[in-house]
Amino acid sequence: MTTIESPTAAGSGTAATDKFKRERVSADTSPERLAAIAKDALGALHKVILDHGVTYPEYRVFKQWLIDVGEGGEWPLFLDVFIEHAVEEVLARSRKGTKGSIEGPYYVPNAPKLPSVCTLPMREEDKKATPLVFTGQVTDLDGNGIGGAIIELWHADEEGYYSQFAPHLPKWNLRGTIVTDDEGRYEITTIQPAPYQIPTDGPTGQFIEAQNGHPWRPAHLHLIVSAPGKESVTTQLYFKGGDWVANDVASAVKPELILDPQPGDDGKNHVTYNFALDPA
Ligand code: BEZ
Ligand code: FE
Repeated sequence: MTTIESPTAAGSGTAATDKFKRERVSADTSPERLAAIAKDALGALHKVILDHGVTYPEYRVFKQWLIDVGEGGEWPLFLDVFIEHAVEEVLARSRKGTKGSIEGPYYVPNAPKLPSVCTLPMREEDKKATPLVFTGQVTDLDGNGIGGAIIELWHADEEGYYSQFAPHLPKWNLRGTIVTDDEGRYEITTIQPAPYQIPTDGPTGQFIEAQNGHPWRPAHLHLIVSAPGKESVTTQLYFKGGDWVANDVASAVKPELILDPQPGDDGKNHVTYNFALDPA
Protein backbone atom coordinates (compact mmCIF):
# COMPACT_ATOMS: atom_id res chain seq x y z
CA MET A 1 0.00 0.00 0.00
CA THR A 2 1.34 3.45 -0.80
CA THR A 3 1.14 6.15 1.86
CA ILE A 4 -0.17 9.40 0.54
CA GLU A 5 1.57 12.38 2.06
CA SER A 6 -0.94 15.23 2.03
CA PRO A 7 0.38 18.39 0.43
CA THR A 8 0.74 21.14 3.01
CA ALA A 9 0.71 24.90 2.57
CA ALA A 10 4.37 24.89 3.57
CA GLY A 11 5.12 22.19 0.96
CA SER A 12 3.28 23.74 -1.96
CA GLY A 13 4.27 27.26 -0.86
CA THR A 14 7.96 26.40 -0.76
CA ALA A 15 7.78 24.62 -4.12
CA ALA A 16 5.97 27.60 -5.69
CA THR A 17 8.47 30.05 -4.18
CA ASP A 18 11.47 27.99 -5.32
CA LYS A 19 10.05 27.81 -8.84
CA PHE A 20 9.42 31.57 -8.90
CA LYS A 21 12.93 32.35 -7.64
CA ARG A 22 14.42 30.32 -10.52
CA GLU A 23 12.57 32.50 -13.05
CA ARG A 24 14.51 35.64 -13.87
CA VAL A 25 11.97 38.42 -13.60
CA SER A 26 12.37 42.02 -14.70
CA ALA A 27 10.10 44.88 -15.78
CA ASP A 28 10.88 47.95 -17.82
CA THR A 29 9.48 50.40 -15.25
CA SER A 30 10.85 53.96 -15.15
CA PRO A 31 11.59 55.59 -11.77
CA GLU A 32 8.78 58.09 -12.48
CA ARG A 33 6.22 55.33 -13.16
CA LEU A 34 7.37 53.41 -10.09
CA ALA A 35 7.07 56.54 -7.93
CA ALA A 36 3.53 57.14 -9.20
CA ILE A 37 2.44 53.54 -8.59
CA ALA A 38 4.09 53.42 -5.15
CA LYS A 39 2.47 56.72 -4.12
CA ASP A 40 -1.01 55.52 -5.11
CA ALA A 41 -0.52 52.04 -3.59
CA LEU A 42 0.61 53.44 -0.24
CA GLY A 43 -2.06 56.13 -0.45
CA ALA A 44 -4.75 53.45 -0.94
CA LEU A 45 -3.44 51.57 2.11
CA HIS A 46 -3.30 54.73 4.23
CA LYS A 47 -6.91 55.50 3.25
CA VAL A 48 -8.04 52.00 4.34
CA ILE A 49 -6.26 52.45 7.70
CA LEU A 50 -7.86 55.84 8.28
CA ASP A 51 -11.34 54.82 7.01
CA HIS A 52 -11.42 51.69 9.20
CA GLY A 53 -9.65 53.21 12.22
CA VAL A 54 -7.04 50.41 12.20
CA THR A 55 -5.50 50.07 15.70
CA TYR A 56 -1.91 49.42 16.84
CA PRO A 57 -2.70 45.79 17.84
CA GLU A 58 -4.17 45.24 14.36
CA TYR A 59 -1.12 46.88 12.74
CA ARG A 60 1.20 44.58 14.73
CA VAL A 61 -0.81 41.47 13.80
CA PHE A 62 -0.60 42.57 10.17
CA LYS A 63 3.21 42.92 10.44
CA GLN A 64 3.48 39.45 11.99
CA TRP A 65 1.25 37.98 9.28
CA LEU A 66 3.36 39.55 6.50
CA ILE A 67 6.45 37.97 8.09
CA ASP A 68 4.65 34.60 8.30
CA VAL A 69 3.64 34.70 4.62
CA GLY A 70 7.27 35.28 3.62
CA GLU A 71 8.70 32.69 6.00
CA GLY A 72 6.07 30.16 4.88
CA GLY A 73 7.01 30.74 1.23
CA GLU A 74 3.42 31.71 0.47
CA TRP A 75 3.81 34.97 -1.44
CA PRO A 76 3.28 33.32 -4.87
CA LEU A 77 0.17 31.61 -3.50
CA PHE A 78 -1.28 34.68 -1.79
CA LEU A 79 -0.55 37.07 -4.66
CA ASP A 80 -1.94 34.74 -7.33
CA VAL A 81 -5.14 34.21 -5.33
CA PHE A 82 -5.85 37.82 -4.44
CA ILE A 83 -3.93 40.13 -6.79
CA GLU A 84 -3.14 38.46 -10.13
CA HIS A 85 -6.66 38.76 -11.58
CA ALA A 86 -6.37 42.57 -11.60
CA VAL A 87 -3.08 42.45 -13.52
CA GLU A 88 -4.67 40.03 -16.00
CA GLU A 89 -7.57 42.48 -16.46
CA VAL A 90 -5.07 45.13 -17.56
CA LEU A 91 -3.58 42.75 -20.15
CA ALA A 92 -7.09 41.82 -21.37
CA ARG A 93 -7.81 45.48 -22.27
CA SER A 94 -5.60 45.21 -25.37
CA ARG A 95 -6.86 41.83 -26.64
CA LYS A 96 -9.56 40.69 -29.07
CA GLY A 97 -8.96 36.93 -29.13
CA THR A 98 -9.69 34.23 -26.56
CA LYS A 99 -10.08 35.64 -23.06
CA GLY A 100 -7.19 35.12 -20.70
CA SER A 101 -7.22 34.28 -17.02
CA ILE A 102 -4.65 34.05 -14.23
CA GLU A 103 -1.66 31.70 -14.51
CA GLY A 104 -1.56 30.86 -10.80
CA PRO A 105 1.53 29.45 -9.07
CA TYR A 106 1.55 25.90 -10.49
CA TYR A 107 2.68 26.27 -14.12
CA VAL A 108 5.84 24.33 -14.96
CA PRO A 109 7.41 24.82 -18.44
CA ASN A 110 8.70 22.03 -20.69
CA ALA A 111 6.07 19.41 -19.97
CA PRO A 112 6.40 16.37 -22.30
CA LYS A 113 5.59 17.08 -25.96
CA LEU A 114 2.48 15.30 -27.24
CA PRO A 115 0.92 14.99 -30.71
CA SER A 116 -2.37 16.67 -31.68
CA VAL A 117 -4.36 13.53 -30.77
CA CYS A 118 -3.11 12.50 -27.35
CA THR A 119 -3.80 11.55 -23.75
CA LEU A 120 -2.20 13.47 -20.90
CA PRO A 121 0.14 11.44 -18.69
CA MET A 122 -1.89 10.09 -15.77
CA ARG A 123 -1.77 7.47 -13.03
CA GLU A 124 -3.89 4.32 -12.94
CA GLU A 125 -5.87 5.95 -10.07
CA ASP A 126 -6.70 8.95 -12.26
CA LYS A 127 -8.42 6.64 -14.75
CA LYS A 128 -11.26 6.20 -12.22
CA ALA A 129 -12.23 9.86 -12.75
CA THR A 130 -14.56 10.87 -15.60
CA PRO A 131 -12.54 10.98 -18.84
CA LEU A 132 -12.73 14.26 -20.73
CA VAL A 133 -12.14 14.51 -24.47
CA PHE A 134 -11.27 18.08 -25.33
CA THR A 135 -11.26 18.96 -29.04
CA GLY A 136 -10.90 22.18 -30.98
CA GLN A 137 -8.79 24.37 -33.19
CA VAL A 138 -6.29 27.19 -32.70
CA THR A 139 -6.93 30.01 -35.18
CA ASP A 140 -6.01 33.62 -35.85
CA LEU A 141 -8.59 36.37 -35.34
CA ASP A 142 -10.03 35.68 -38.84
CA GLY A 143 -10.63 32.01 -38.09
CA ASN A 144 -7.69 30.63 -40.10
CA GLY A 145 -6.27 27.50 -38.49
CA ILE A 146 -2.69 27.75 -37.21
CA GLY A 147 -0.75 24.54 -37.88
CA GLY A 148 1.83 23.58 -35.26
CA ALA A 149 0.39 25.86 -32.56
CA ILE A 150 1.39 24.87 -29.03
CA ILE A 151 -1.03 24.17 -26.19
CA GLU A 152 0.50 23.82 -22.76
CA LEU A 153 -2.10 22.17 -20.55
CA TRP A 154 -1.91 21.44 -16.84
CA HIS A 155 -4.54 20.76 -14.22
CA ALA A 156 -5.26 19.26 -10.82
CA ASP A 157 -6.28 15.63 -10.46
CA GLU A 158 -9.62 14.28 -9.26
CA GLU A 159 -8.59 15.09 -5.68
CA GLY A 160 -7.48 18.64 -6.46
CA TYR A 161 -3.69 18.05 -6.39
CA TYR A 162 -1.10 19.35 -8.88
CA SER A 163 1.95 17.32 -9.88
CA GLN A 164 5.26 18.84 -8.70
CA PHE A 165 3.38 20.56 -5.84
CA ALA A 166 2.11 17.40 -4.14
CA PRO A 167 4.78 14.86 -3.21
CA HIS A 168 2.78 11.73 -4.07
CA LEU A 169 2.30 12.50 -7.78
CA PRO A 170 4.58 11.58 -10.73
CA LYS A 171 6.53 14.54 -12.12
CA TRP A 172 4.46 15.28 -15.24
CA ASN A 173 1.08 13.93 -14.11
CA LEU A 174 -1.73 15.73 -15.97
CA ARG A 175 0.69 18.06 -17.75
CA GLY A 176 1.54 18.18 -21.43
CA THR A 177 2.73 20.35 -24.32
CA ILE A 178 0.46 19.54 -27.26
CA VAL A 179 1.42 20.39 -30.84
CA THR A 180 -1.64 20.97 -33.04
CA ASP A 181 -1.99 19.41 -36.51
CA ASP A 182 -1.53 21.31 -39.79
CA GLU A 183 -4.92 22.99 -39.39
CA GLY A 184 -4.44 23.87 -35.72
CA ARG A 185 -6.69 21.05 -34.51
CA TYR A 186 -6.32 18.89 -31.42
CA GLU A 187 -8.09 16.11 -29.54
CA ILE A 188 -6.80 15.79 -25.99
CA THR A 189 -8.01 13.10 -23.61
CA THR A 190 -7.67 13.85 -19.93
CA ILE A 191 -9.90 13.62 -16.84
CA GLN A 192 -12.33 16.02 -15.23
CA PRO A 193 -10.36 17.81 -12.50
CA ALA A 194 -11.80 18.47 -9.03
CA PRO A 195 -12.23 21.90 -7.44
CA TYR A 196 -8.99 23.16 -5.93
CA GLN A 197 -8.68 24.12 -2.29
CA ILE A 198 -6.10 26.75 -1.39
CA PRO A 199 -3.91 25.13 1.32
CA THR A 200 -5.50 26.15 4.61
CA ASP A 201 -2.70 25.24 7.03
CA GLY A 202 -0.57 28.35 6.40
CA PRO A 203 -0.94 32.13 6.61
CA THR A 204 -2.99 32.40 3.39
CA GLY A 205 -5.46 29.94 4.88
CA GLN A 206 -5.47 31.88 8.17
CA PHE A 207 -6.21 35.09 6.27
CA ILE A 208 -9.22 33.43 4.61
CA GLU A 209 -10.49 31.69 7.73
CA ALA A 210 -10.14 34.77 9.98
CA GLN A 211 -12.71 36.55 7.83
CA ASN A 212 -15.00 33.50 7.48
CA GLY A 213 -14.15 33.18 3.80
CA HIS A 214 -13.86 29.97 1.76
CA PRO A 215 -10.63 28.66 0.20
CA TRP A 216 -12.03 27.11 -3.00
CA ARG A 217 -11.41 27.54 -6.69
CA PRO A 218 -13.79 25.86 -9.15
CA ALA A 219 -12.48 22.87 -11.11
CA HIS A 220 -10.45 24.19 -14.02
CA LEU A 221 -7.99 23.44 -16.81
CA HIS A 222 -4.96 25.71 -17.21
CA LEU A 223 -3.69 26.48 -20.71
CA ILE A 224 -1.07 28.58 -22.43
CA VAL A 225 -1.70 28.67 -26.18
CA SER A 226 1.01 30.05 -28.45
CA ALA A 227 2.18 30.20 -32.08
CA PRO A 228 4.91 32.09 -33.95
CA GLY A 229 3.84 35.66 -34.78
CA LYS A 230 0.93 35.52 -32.33
CA GLU A 231 0.46 36.75 -28.81
CA SER A 232 0.27 33.77 -26.49
CA VAL A 233 -2.75 33.54 -24.24
CA THR A 234 -2.65 32.21 -20.69
CA THR A 235 -6.09 31.12 -19.65
CA GLN A 236 -8.29 28.69 -17.73
CA LEU A 237 -11.43 26.78 -18.62
CA TYR A 238 -14.15 25.99 -16.08
CA PHE A 239 -17.15 23.64 -16.01
CA LYS A 240 -20.76 24.83 -16.21
CA GLY A 241 -22.72 24.33 -12.99
CA GLY A 242 -19.61 23.30 -11.04
CA ASP A 243 -19.06 24.19 -7.39
CA TRP A 244 -17.44 27.60 -6.84
CA VAL A 245 -17.79 28.73 -10.48
CA ALA A 246 -19.86 31.66 -9.23
CA ASN A 247 -17.70 32.25 -6.17
CA ASP A 248 -14.03 31.65 -7.04
CA VAL A 249 -11.68 32.70 -4.23
CA ALA A 250 -9.24 33.89 -6.93
CA SER A 251 -11.89 35.93 -8.87
CA ALA A 252 -10.61 34.45 -12.14
CA VAL A 253 -13.75 33.04 -13.82
CA LYS A 254 -15.06 34.72 -17.00
CA PRO A 255 -18.32 33.64 -18.66
CA GLU A 256 -16.54 33.06 -22.00
CA LEU A 257 -14.32 30.44 -20.33
CA ILE A 258 -17.01 28.04 -19.09
CA LEU A 259 -17.21 24.64 -20.78
CA ASP A 260 -20.33 22.49 -20.95
CA PRO A 261 -19.08 18.95 -21.62
CA GLN A 262 -21.63 16.36 -22.70
CA PRO A 263 -21.48 12.63 -21.95
CA GLY A 264 -20.85 10.54 -25.08
CA ASP A 265 -21.85 6.91 -25.85
CA ASP A 266 -18.24 5.95 -25.00
CA GLY A 267 -18.66 6.85 -21.28
CA LYS A 268 -16.46 9.93 -21.69
CA ASN A 269 -17.37 13.61 -21.46
CA HIS A 270 -16.79 15.51 -24.69
CA VAL A 271 -16.32 19.21 -25.26
CA THR A 272 -15.07 21.50 -28.02
CA TYR A 273 -13.34 24.80 -27.36
CA ASN A 274 -11.44 26.86 -29.93
CA PHE A 275 -8.72 29.42 -29.29
CA ALA A 276 -8.26 32.60 -31.34
CA LEU A 277 -4.87 34.27 -31.00
CA ASP A 278 -4.19 38.00 -31.37
CA PRO A 279 -1.30 39.05 -33.62
CA ALA A 280 1.94 39.65 -31.71
C1 BEZ B 1 -4.78 27.76 -9.39
O1 BEZ B 1 -5.29 28.15 -10.41
O2 BEZ B 1 -4.61 26.57 -9.23
C2 BEZ B 1 -4.38 28.74 -8.34
C3 BEZ B 1 -4.53 30.07 -8.60
C4 BEZ B 1 -4.15 30.99 -7.63
C5 BEZ B 1 -3.61 30.52 -6.44
C6 BEZ B 1 -3.49 29.16 -6.20
C7 BEZ B 1 -3.87 28.26 -7.17
FE1 FE C 1 -5.18 25.84 -10.92
